[in-house]
Amino acid sequence: MLNFDRHRRLRSSSEMRDLVRETHLNKEDLIMPVFVDATIKGKEEIKSMPGIYRFGLNAILDEIKDIVDLGIKSIIIFGIPDHKDDVGSGAWEDNGIVQQAIRKIKAAYPQLIVIADTCMCEYTSTGHCGIVKDHHVVNDDSLVYNTKVAVSQAKAGADMVAPSNAMDGFVAAIRKGLDEAGFKMIPIMAYSVKYASSFYGPFRDAADGAPKFGDRKSYQMDPANRLEALREAASDEEEGADFVMVKPAMAFLDIVRDIRNHTNLPLVTYNVSGEYAMIKAAAQNGWINEDQIVKETLVGMKRAGADLIISYFSKEVATRMNEQR
Ligand code: PBG
Ligand code: ZN
Repeated sequence: MLNFDRHRRLRSSSEMRDLVRETHLNKEDLIMPVFVDATIKGKEEIKSMPGIYRFGLNAILDEIKDIVDLGIKSIIIFGIPDHKDDVGSGAWEDNGIVQQAIRKIKAAYPQLIVIADTCMCEYTSTGHCGIVKDHHVVNDDSLVYNTKVAVSQAKAGADMVAPSNAMDGFVAAIRKGLDEAGFKMIPIMAYSVKYASSFYGPFRDAADGAPKFGDRKSYQMDPANRLEALREAASDEEEGADFVMVKPAMAFLDIVRDIRNHTNLPLVTYNVSGEYAMIKAAAQNGWINEDQIVKETLVGMKRAGADLIISYFSKEVATRMNEQR
Protein backbone atom coordinates (compact mmCIF):
# COMPACT_ATOMS: atom_id res chain seq x y z
CA MET A 1 0.00 0.00 0.00
CA LEU A 2 1.36 3.43 -0.98
CA ASN A 3 1.76 5.85 1.87
CA PHE A 4 1.23 9.51 1.00
CA ASP A 5 -0.61 12.58 2.27
CA ARG A 6 -4.24 12.96 1.17
CA HIS A 7 -4.17 16.76 0.79
CA ARG A 8 -7.32 16.51 -1.27
CA ARG A 9 -9.38 15.44 1.77
CA LEU A 10 -9.52 19.07 2.81
CA ARG A 11 -10.64 20.24 -0.64
CA SER A 12 -13.55 17.87 -1.06
CA SER A 13 -16.35 20.46 -1.03
CA SER A 14 -16.75 24.19 -0.92
CA GLU A 15 -17.84 23.88 2.73
CA MET A 16 -14.68 21.95 3.54
CA ARG A 17 -12.58 24.53 1.72
CA ASP A 18 -14.32 27.31 3.66
CA LEU A 19 -13.47 25.51 6.88
CA VAL A 20 -9.74 25.37 6.26
CA ARG A 21 -9.25 28.68 4.45
CA GLU A 22 -6.31 30.50 6.02
CA THR A 23 -6.73 34.01 4.66
CA HIS A 24 -9.82 36.16 4.42
CA LEU A 25 -10.42 39.42 2.65
CA ASN A 26 -12.79 41.63 4.63
CA LYS A 27 -14.52 44.85 3.78
CA GLU A 28 -12.71 46.42 6.73
CA ASP A 29 -9.41 45.79 4.94
CA LEU A 30 -10.24 48.06 2.03
CA ILE A 31 -9.32 51.70 1.58
CA MET A 32 -10.82 53.44 -1.46
CA PRO A 33 -8.84 56.21 -3.20
CA VAL A 34 -10.79 59.35 -4.11
CA PHE A 35 -9.68 62.16 -6.44
CA VAL A 36 -11.10 65.64 -5.96
CA ASP A 37 -10.45 68.14 -8.73
CA ALA A 38 -10.66 71.91 -8.31
CA THR A 39 -10.90 72.46 -12.06
CA ILE A 40 -14.09 70.53 -12.81
CA LYS A 41 -17.76 70.25 -11.95
CA GLY A 42 -19.41 66.84 -11.79
CA LYS A 43 -17.14 63.92 -12.56
CA GLU A 44 -14.66 62.95 -15.26
CA GLU A 45 -13.46 59.43 -15.92
CA ILE A 46 -9.71 58.85 -15.87
CA LYS A 47 -8.83 57.44 -19.28
CA SER A 48 -6.23 54.93 -18.17
CA MET A 49 -8.36 53.85 -15.19
CA PRO A 50 -11.81 52.85 -16.43
CA GLY A 51 -14.41 53.17 -13.67
CA ILE A 52 -12.34 55.65 -11.64
CA TYR A 53 -13.24 59.34 -11.72
CA ARG A 54 -12.05 62.73 -10.64
CA PHE A 55 -14.83 64.54 -8.79
CA GLY A 56 -15.53 68.23 -8.55
CA LEU A 57 -16.31 69.58 -5.10
CA ASN A 58 -19.99 69.75 -6.07
CA ALA A 59 -20.09 66.02 -6.82
CA ILE A 60 -17.76 64.58 -4.20
CA LEU A 61 -20.50 63.66 -1.74
CA ASP A 62 -22.25 61.47 -4.34
CA GLU A 63 -19.15 59.32 -4.52
CA ILE A 64 -18.68 59.30 -0.75
CA LYS A 65 -22.30 58.24 -0.26
CA ASP A 66 -21.72 55.30 -2.61
CA ILE A 67 -18.61 54.29 -0.70
CA VAL A 68 -20.27 54.55 2.70
CA ASP A 69 -23.40 52.73 1.53
CA LEU A 70 -21.25 49.84 0.35
CA GLY A 71 -19.87 49.50 3.86
CA ILE A 72 -16.33 50.70 3.13
CA LYS A 73 -14.86 52.29 6.25
CA SER A 74 -12.08 54.46 4.90
CA ILE A 75 -10.89 56.51 1.96
CA ILE A 76 -7.61 58.11 0.95
CA ILE A 77 -8.05 61.46 -0.72
CA PHE A 78 -5.93 63.13 -3.42
CA GLY A 79 -6.38 66.60 -4.85
CA ILE A 80 -5.93 68.25 -8.21
CA PRO A 81 -5.55 72.01 -7.63
CA ASP A 82 -6.38 74.92 -9.93
CA HIS A 83 -2.90 76.42 -9.59
CA LYS A 84 0.64 75.10 -9.29
CA ASP A 85 3.73 76.91 -7.99
CA ASP A 86 7.26 76.29 -6.68
CA VAL A 87 6.16 75.62 -3.13
CA GLY A 88 2.97 73.69 -3.84
CA SER A 89 0.85 76.20 -1.97
CA GLY A 90 -2.36 74.52 -3.16
CA ALA A 91 -1.39 71.55 -1.01
CA TRP A 92 -1.32 73.44 2.30
CA GLU A 93 -3.66 76.42 1.97
CA ASP A 94 -6.66 76.40 4.31
CA ASN A 95 -8.85 76.59 1.26
CA GLY A 96 -6.96 74.06 -0.80
CA ILE A 97 -9.11 71.62 -2.72
CA VAL A 98 -8.36 68.70 -0.41
CA GLN A 99 -8.95 70.78 2.71
CA GLN A 100 -12.34 71.91 1.37
CA ALA A 101 -13.26 68.37 0.40
CA ILE A 102 -12.28 66.97 3.79
CA ARG A 103 -14.43 69.53 5.61
CA LYS A 104 -17.35 68.69 3.39
CA ILE A 105 -16.93 64.93 3.71
CA LYS A 106 -16.42 64.92 7.47
CA ALA A 107 -19.44 67.19 8.00
CA ALA A 108 -21.66 64.76 6.09
CA TYR A 109 -20.04 61.47 7.15
CA PRO A 110 -18.25 61.97 10.47
CA GLN A 111 -17.75 58.24 10.97
CA LEU A 112 -15.89 57.67 7.67
CA ILE A 113 -12.11 57.46 8.19
CA VAL A 114 -10.62 60.08 5.91
CA ILE A 115 -6.94 59.63 5.19
CA ALA A 116 -5.19 62.48 3.39
CA ASP A 117 -2.34 61.71 1.00
CA THR A 118 0.33 64.13 2.14
CA CYS A 119 2.47 65.15 -0.80
CA MET A 120 3.12 68.03 -3.17
CA CYS A 121 3.64 66.55 -6.63
CA GLU A 122 0.13 67.46 -7.82
CA TYR A 123 0.69 71.03 -6.60
CA THR A 124 4.26 71.93 -7.58
CA SER A 125 5.07 73.43 -10.97
CA THR A 126 7.96 70.94 -11.20
CA GLY A 127 5.72 67.94 -10.56
CA HIS A 128 8.17 66.78 -7.91
CA CYS A 129 7.18 65.69 -4.42
CA GLY A 130 9.22 68.43 -2.76
CA ILE A 131 11.10 71.68 -3.20
CA VAL A 132 13.46 71.87 -6.16
CA LYS A 133 16.70 73.87 -6.10
CA ASP A 134 19.21 73.68 -8.96
CA HIS A 135 17.30 70.76 -10.44
CA HIS A 136 17.55 68.78 -7.21
CA VAL A 137 14.75 67.86 -4.87
CA VAL A 138 16.16 69.13 -1.58
CA ASN A 139 15.34 67.07 1.46
CA ASP A 140 15.02 69.38 4.44
CA ASP A 141 13.16 72.26 2.78
CA SER A 142 10.75 69.67 1.45
CA LEU A 143 10.15 68.45 5.00
CA VAL A 144 9.11 71.93 6.06
CA TYR A 145 6.47 72.12 3.33
CA ASN A 146 5.28 68.55 3.64
CA THR A 147 4.71 69.22 7.34
CA LYS A 148 2.63 72.28 6.45
CA VAL A 149 0.54 70.03 4.20
CA ALA A 150 -0.03 67.50 6.98
CA VAL A 151 -0.99 70.13 9.55
CA SER A 152 -3.42 71.83 7.16
CA GLN A 153 -5.05 68.47 6.43
CA ALA A 154 -5.41 67.71 10.14
CA LYS A 155 -6.90 71.19 10.68
CA ALA A 156 -9.43 70.48 7.96
CA GLY A 157 -10.50 67.37 9.84
CA ALA A 158 -8.53 64.49 8.30
CA ASP A 159 -8.50 61.46 10.58
CA MET A 160 -5.06 60.45 9.44
CA VAL A 161 -2.25 61.71 7.21
CA ALA A 162 -0.38 59.52 4.77
CA PRO A 163 2.90 61.15 3.77
CA SER A 164 4.05 59.88 0.38
CA ASN A 165 6.82 62.30 -0.53
CA ALA A 166 9.51 59.82 0.52
CA MET A 167 11.95 62.38 1.93
CA ASP A 168 14.28 61.23 4.70
CA GLY A 169 12.91 62.12 8.11
CA PHE A 170 9.40 62.86 6.87
CA VAL A 171 7.69 60.95 9.65
CA ALA A 172 9.68 62.68 12.41
CA ALA A 173 9.05 66.10 10.88
CA ILE A 174 5.32 65.53 10.46
CA ARG A 175 4.94 64.00 13.92
CA LYS A 176 6.60 67.04 15.47
CA GLY A 177 4.50 69.42 13.37
CA LEU A 178 1.24 67.68 14.21
CA ASP A 179 2.06 67.49 17.92
CA GLU A 180 2.98 71.18 18.10
CA ALA A 181 -0.23 72.11 16.32
CA GLY A 182 -2.26 70.14 18.85
CA PHE A 183 -2.86 67.01 16.78
CA LYS A 184 -1.17 64.46 19.00
CA MET A 185 -3.91 61.90 18.27
CA ILE A 186 -3.72 62.03 14.47
CA PRO A 187 -1.95 58.87 13.24
CA ILE A 188 0.63 58.78 10.46
CA MET A 189 0.32 56.17 7.75
CA ALA A 190 3.78 56.32 6.22
CA TYR A 191 4.48 55.35 2.63
CA SER A 192 7.61 53.79 4.10
CA VAL A 193 8.63 51.42 1.34
CA LYS A 194 7.87 53.29 -1.83
CA TYR A 195 9.57 52.09 -4.98
CA ALA A 196 10.31 54.29 -7.99
CA SER A 197 7.86 52.39 -10.16
CA SER A 198 6.37 52.54 -13.62
CA PHE A 199 3.21 51.11 -12.11
CA TYR A 200 2.30 54.67 -11.08
CA GLY A 201 1.81 55.72 -14.70
CA PRO A 202 -2.00 55.96 -14.75
CA PHE A 203 -2.04 57.76 -11.39
CA ARG A 204 0.04 60.51 -12.87
CA ASP A 205 -2.69 61.01 -15.49
CA ALA A 206 -5.28 60.84 -12.75
CA ALA A 207 -3.68 63.37 -10.44
CA ASP A 208 -1.60 65.29 -12.97
CA GLY A 209 1.54 64.83 -10.89
CA ALA A 210 4.19 63.62 -13.32
CA PRO A 211 7.63 65.17 -12.81
CA LYS A 212 8.33 67.82 -15.46
CA PHE A 213 12.01 66.83 -15.56
CA GLY A 214 14.00 63.86 -14.33
CA ASP A 215 12.45 61.12 -12.25
CA ARG A 216 11.84 60.20 -8.62
CA LYS A 217 14.76 57.79 -8.27
CA SER A 218 16.67 59.96 -5.82
CA TYR A 219 13.85 59.73 -3.28
CA GLN A 220 11.87 56.61 -4.17
CA MET A 221 13.48 53.19 -3.91
CA ASP A 222 15.21 51.02 -6.48
CA PRO A 223 12.90 48.04 -7.23
CA ALA A 224 15.92 45.74 -7.01
CA ASN A 225 16.41 46.38 -3.29
CA ARG A 226 15.17 44.41 -0.34
CA LEU A 227 17.37 45.22 2.64
CA GLU A 228 16.85 48.89 1.94
CA ALA A 229 13.13 48.30 2.40
CA LEU A 230 13.78 46.98 5.89
CA ARG A 231 15.87 50.06 6.69
CA GLU A 232 13.18 52.41 5.39
CA ALA A 233 10.45 50.73 7.44
CA ALA A 234 12.64 50.61 10.55
CA SER A 235 13.48 54.30 10.42
CA ASP A 236 9.84 55.30 9.92
CA GLU A 237 8.82 53.13 12.84
CA GLU A 238 11.49 54.73 15.00
CA GLU A 239 10.33 58.19 13.94
CA GLY A 240 6.81 57.43 15.11
CA ALA A 241 4.86 55.99 12.19
CA ASP A 242 1.58 54.36 13.19
CA PHE A 243 1.25 52.34 9.99
CA VAL A 244 3.87 51.34 7.44
CA MET A 245 3.17 50.80 3.77
CA VAL A 246 4.65 48.88 0.87
CA LYS A 247 3.95 50.23 -2.59
CA PRO A 248 3.38 49.00 -5.29
CA ALA A 249 1.94 45.63 -4.25
CA MET A 250 1.80 42.99 -6.97
CA ALA A 251 5.47 42.87 -7.95
CA PHE A 252 6.56 43.42 -4.34
CA LEU A 253 4.75 40.79 -2.28
CA ASP A 254 8.05 39.36 -1.05
CA ILE A 255 8.72 42.78 0.46
CA VAL A 256 5.28 42.81 2.08
CA ARG A 257 6.16 39.51 3.75
CA ASP A 258 9.60 40.76 4.79
CA ILE A 259 8.17 43.87 6.38
CA ARG A 260 5.41 41.84 8.05
CA ASN A 261 8.12 39.74 9.68
CA HIS A 262 10.01 42.81 10.91
CA THR A 263 7.36 45.11 12.34
CA ASN A 264 4.47 44.87 14.73
CA LEU A 265 2.77 47.92 13.23
CA PRO A 266 -0.28 47.55 11.02
CA LEU A 267 0.91 47.01 7.46
CA VAL A 268 -0.70 48.56 4.42
CA THR A 269 -0.07 47.73 0.80
CA TYR A 270 -1.04 49.92 -2.12
CA ASN A 271 -2.54 48.12 -5.12
CA VAL A 272 -1.53 50.96 -7.43
CA SER A 273 -2.97 52.51 -10.57
CA GLY A 274 -0.92 50.48 -13.07
CA GLU A 275 -1.98 47.24 -11.40
CA TYR A 276 -5.60 48.35 -11.69
CA ALA A 277 -5.17 49.41 -15.32
CA MET A 278 -3.60 46.08 -16.36
CA ILE A 279 -6.41 44.02 -14.90
CA LYS A 280 -9.09 46.32 -16.31
CA ALA A 281 -7.55 46.28 -19.78
CA ALA A 282 -7.31 42.50 -19.90
CA ALA A 283 -10.84 42.15 -18.53
CA GLN A 284 -12.25 44.57 -21.09
CA ASN A 285 -10.72 42.43 -23.78
CA GLY A 286 -12.42 39.38 -22.33
CA TRP A 287 -9.06 37.77 -21.66
CA ILE A 288 -9.46 37.21 -17.94
CA ASN A 289 -12.25 36.87 -15.38
CA GLU A 290 -12.01 40.20 -13.61
CA ASP A 291 -13.88 39.29 -10.41
CA GLN A 292 -11.83 36.19 -9.81
CA ILE A 293 -8.52 37.81 -10.70
CA VAL A 294 -9.21 40.75 -8.40
CA LYS A 295 -10.12 38.47 -5.52
CA GLU A 296 -7.03 36.35 -6.07
CA THR A 297 -4.84 39.44 -6.29
CA LEU A 298 -6.13 41.05 -3.10
CA VAL A 299 -6.21 37.86 -1.06
CA GLY A 300 -2.61 37.31 -2.17
CA MET A 301 -1.71 40.66 -0.63
CA LYS A 302 -3.33 39.65 2.63
CA ARG A 303 -1.60 36.27 2.54
CA ALA A 304 1.71 38.08 2.02
CA GLY A 305 1.03 39.90 5.28
CA ALA A 306 -0.93 43.06 4.52
CA ASP A 307 -3.54 44.14 7.06
CA LEU A 308 -5.01 46.85 4.87
CA ILE A 309 -5.13 47.35 1.12
CA ILE A 310 -5.52 50.64 -0.69
CA SER A 311 -7.20 49.60 -3.93
CA TYR A 312 -9.13 51.17 -6.78
CA PHE A 313 -11.08 47.90 -6.81
CA SER A 314 -12.42 48.51 -3.28
CA LYS A 315 -15.91 49.55 -4.38
CA GLU A 316 -16.24 46.63 -6.80
CA VAL A 317 -15.02 44.15 -4.22
CA ALA A 318 -17.40 45.51 -1.59
CA THR A 319 -20.27 45.35 -4.08
CA ARG A 320 -19.58 41.67 -4.71
CA MET A 321 -19.24 40.92 -1.02
CA ASN A 322 -22.65 42.50 -0.44
CA GLU A 323 -24.22 40.45 -3.22
CA GLN A 324 -22.97 37.22 -1.68
CA ARG A 325 -24.80 37.81 1.59
C1 PBG B 1 2.17 60.96 -4.70
C2 PBG B 1 1.61 59.61 -4.92
C3 PBG B 1 1.77 58.77 -6.03
C4 PBG B 1 0.96 57.65 -5.79
C5 PBG B 1 0.37 57.83 -4.55
N1 PBG B 1 0.80 59.05 -4.01
C6 PBG B 1 2.53 58.97 -7.29
C7 PBG B 1 4.00 58.99 -7.29
O1 PBG B 1 4.66 58.88 -6.27
O2 PBG B 1 4.53 59.15 -8.38
C8 PBG B 1 0.78 56.49 -6.72
C9 PBG B 1 -0.55 55.82 -6.63
C10 PBG B 1 -0.92 54.94 -7.78
O3 PBG B 1 -0.17 54.75 -8.75
O4 PBG B 1 -2.02 54.42 -7.70
N2 PBG B 1 3.46 61.00 -4.21
ZN1 ZN C 1 4.35 63.04 -4.54
